[in-house]
Amino acid sequence: MSLKKLHIQTIGCQMNVYDSDKIAQGLDPMGYRLTDSPDKADMIIVNTCAIREKAVQKVFSYLGRVAGLKQARPDLIIGVGGCVAQQEGDRILQRAPYVDLVFGTHAIGRLPALVARIETERQRVVDVAMGTCIEEPDGAVMPRGETEVSRFVTIMHGCDNFCTYCVVPYVRGRESSRQPDHILDEIRGLVDTGVREVTLLGQNVNSYGQKEGLPDFTSLLEKINDIEGLKRIRFTTSHPKDLSEKLIGAFGILDKLCHHIHLPVQSGADRILKKMNRNYTSSQYLDKITKLRHTCPDIAITSDIIVGFPGETEREFTATLDLIATVGYDGLFAFKYSDRPNAPATRFTDKVDEHVKDQRLQKVLELQEKITIAKNRALVGQTRAVLVESYRLKPASGTGEAGTGQWTGRTSTNKIVHMPAAEAGPGQADPIDKGFLIPVLIKKAFAHSLWGLPDGSGARTACGPKGESSHAA
Ligand code: SAH
Ligand code: SF4
Ligand code: F3S
Repeated sequence: MSLKKLHIQTIGCQMNVYDSDKIAQGLDPMGYRLTDSPDKADMIIVNTCAIREKAVQKVFSYLGRVAGLKQARPDLIIGVGGCVAQQEGDRILQRAPYVDLVFGTHAIGRLPALVARIETERQRVVDVAMGTCIEEPDGAVMPRGETEVSRFVTIMHGCDNFCTYCVVPYVRGRESSRQPDHILDEIRGLVDTGVREVTLLGQNVNSYGQKEGLPDFTSLLEKINDIEGLKRIRFTTSHPKDLSEKLIGAFGILDKLCHHIHLPVQSGADRILKKMNRNYTSSQYLDKITKLRHTCPDIAITSDIIVGFPGETEREFTATLDLIATVGYDGLFAFKYSDRPNAPATRFTDKVDEHVKDQRLQKVLELQEKITIAKNRALVGQTRAVLVESYRLKPASGTGEAGTGQWTGRTSTNKIVHMPAAEAGPGQADPIDKGFLIPVLIKKAFAHSLWGLPDGSGARTACGPKGESSHAA
């Protein structure tokens, strides 16, 4: 078997990052090995996102760039997968005549067969069939070359919530949960390759297993918590409407569960939440925040906000700003509302002007920046447990600190922390390494990261898998 080079360009959410790993894993037995360079690739796969118009534009502008490579090397295979592939199907072949393969979100298991057809028959192939269940890729996990400390694990596919602005139910299909044994085997396999943290992915992890009559999400978390060698568990996303008391309780019980929840509110105005089909009110949402903080006082809370949903008045937008200030989020992702094919809100008539959306987005970002900086500054002088994830040679600019290199990791509350690497003397190794969970004294706070010093005394071994709260100074 001759070896060939595969370049995967991933656009979109964590689920696409996970799917890209599965794509690479599926094509590996056919001789495809990953390359960072599209210029050297025998096959380029673009894994696409359809969540907003901007994401779709990004896909076609990337495809425009690789078209030139195909002209120079007609044997190059160009494939388009993911959510835009699912949405557009063979229309992509018309719009981008140099594309050889279009495969949808449920076709990843069939990808090797599709590629084999292209290799032998040299004809263009489209597979956007959607079944109720997605074939399980085999349990084996492929290390990504260098040891990775943190990896995503998809635990459920699709979504049944049909928020009126959202394309996901149409491009990812109906909700279905993976078997707990498959998930646990996959995580054990990852831990064997050096992974120390997993982020469990689903559009609404709270309904994990419900349709299939499987043990619920909290039971799954309990089993994952028992996996030896794993240090941290994260998950995303939990829909506020069914964030259960049981799951809230898990933050007080499970020692590996990180003290962070991403709980997208979208809007602070009840009329808009209703039009979005979110099925909660702002006061029900705030009630859940209170309970979370009661159970886990240092929990970091982040959210998604949509500004300029059809019909959103100035007063309703102010209600969103008020809610942001009341909660005091640790971080926010804010988006301008964007019409999506099939999504009901596209047919709502009272659209908000683009420049009003721009202004509102700006206001949200400015407010949040102030809150984030204040929250980060409050950590200066405190010690937090940091899981070390990566090393690079230059210290962060602006710190003014000299050093040979820099380690980067995250707190349990998902804050990025940079640390200077120790100058290792002759015969001495740097006392830190990837995958270590170490206490770090936070010295400086920035808008998007913290800077700290590993807390001397070699207390690393004393630092168990418990969240950072046990190490607070
Ligand atoms: N399942 C997750 C969201 C996944 S999509 C949840 O329910 O929380 C990620 C975010 O994209 C959403 O939370 C929303 O804020 C944003 N988004 C989705 N559709 C959008 C649209 N049409 N316009 C603008 N933002 C959108
Ligand atoms: Fe989209 Fe709503 Fe499903 Fe999230 S819960 S993926 S926003 S439909
Ligand atoms: Fe985008 Fe599909 Fe994820 S639309 S956000 S890549 S589920």
